[in-house]
Amino acid sequence: MDYVRVASLADLGMGQIMPVEAAGVKLLLTQVGATIYAADRKCPHLGFNLCRGSLEGAAVVCPLHKAKFDLATGVIERDPKLLFINMKAKTGLKVYPVKVLDQDVFVGV
Ligand code: FES
Repeated sequence: MDYVRVASLADLGMGQIMPVEAAGVKLLLTQVGATIYAADRKCPHLGFNLCRGSLEGAAVVCPLHKAKFDLATGVIERDPKLLFINMKAKTGLKVYPVKVLDQDVFVGV
């Protein structure tokens, strides 16, 4: 696994979900409290862009069908739903380790 610099700490706004790329992998980067999280940008349900989603604590919520994924583990906390139709995401969200060195944020891919 290689750690790739994806942003500086100053780029990250608290509560914002930022698109970044590491070694060709499209990721989201976000900070909740003192912890920075990196995860795949595509929702594991139908591939919607999770950078357009929202945060609920340390989880990201997909705006399309409201599936909710823990940003630390990628575990599905809430399955997708369309009106009254319950659906299933095939997998959890892939998450990546993050390191901060000086003022730079690195993601292991
Ligand atoms: S595409 Fe994300 S919940 Fe359906």
